[in-house]
Amino acid sequence: MRIVVLFGGESPEREVSLLSGRAVARALKKKGYKIFLLDPAKKNFFKKILEVKPECVFIALHGGMGEGGSIQGFLEVLKIPYTGSGVRASAVCLNKIMTKKILAYHKLPTPEFVEVEKGKKISLPFSLPAVVKPANLGSTIGIKIVKDERQLKSAIKECFSIDDQVFVEKYISGTEVTVGILGNDNPEVLPVIEIETPTGFYDYKAKYTTGGSRHIIPPRLKEKTVKKIESISLNAYKILGCSGLARMELIERRGIPYILDVNTIPGLTDLSLFPDAARARGISFENLCEKIVMFAEKNAKKKNR
Ligand SMILES: Nc1ncnc2c1ncn2[C@@H]1O[C@H](COP(=O)(O)OP(=O)(O)O)[C@@H](O)[C@H]1O
Ligand SMILES: [Mg+2]
Repeated sequence: MRIVVLFGGESPEREVSLLSGRAVARALKKKGYKIFLLDPAKKNFFKKILEVKPECVFIALHGGMGEGGSIQGFLEVLKIPYTGSGVRASAVCLNKIMTKKILAYHKLPTPEFVEVEKGKKISLPFSLPAVVKPANLGSTIGIKIVKDERQLKSAIKECFSIDDQVFVEKYISGTEVTVGILGNDNPEVLPVIEIETPTGFYDYKAKYTTGGSRHIIPPRLKEKTVKKIESISLNAYKILGCSGLARMELIERRGIPYILDVNTIPGLTDLSLFPDAARARGISFENLCEKIVMFAEKNAKKKNR
């Protein structure tokens, strides 16, 4: 079977994607697939993908067009099966404001928030500290924890220089956890991972350097709380319409798991959380990559019915 692995791309998360793509390519080669690594940021990309005529595309792109539905739409038009979520779920989950609105509508816990209108004064319906975030960027780019009005103002201004949608979220002091989910119609919840960082802020450095954070499986939480984290994550996956895989990020405080972020194409490097969760379930990285391809094919078959 001929598989194109997409990696790199033009988003700020390009460097991580290069690592994810290479890891996936290596794994699928070991499984006997014929692999073509292509970078959509390269000039000859369109010509190449049409030449290769892949039977499936493994999208190992993070953020931007690769995770946000554009590449998915392009492959949809070409009728090439691809891994992960479809256009709609990809687009919704890449935008944190859209995601939070849908979660709130379905009464799934997510921290209180307000959208900021550019140039307009805001009054917070909750007390500081708060977190200022761009709606459309990942990897903690542009995210600031603010403790007073002055910091709030300058963080908002700074945030608008990198994104045109900005929101302010209530700061939740609690235990950070992440939940990998795998599958289409009957998705499997992978073991919950607690993330411990030296600063309590899971930023770019903590995410992508060895020793920057500790993955603790199982989390140091009550069994009842872990069950709640699992069911809320699974519900969110279904409600948002995810398929293939996704990784939910939550903060638990006093037994309530608040959803912060949904990654439809989570990191797939050796340091990454999703492969770690799969390993804890006894799924090797090679088998994980193959499963993700199988879910892509099943999804494509269903669409063509
Ligand atoms: N409301 C919040 N309360 C406390 N910490 C937060 C909050 N929002 C984000 N953080 C911290 O910032 C990190 C990145 O935020 P997140 O919303 O997941 O954005 P990204 O898309 O950059 O991963 C989180 O993993 C967490 O450590
Ligand atoms: Mg996050």
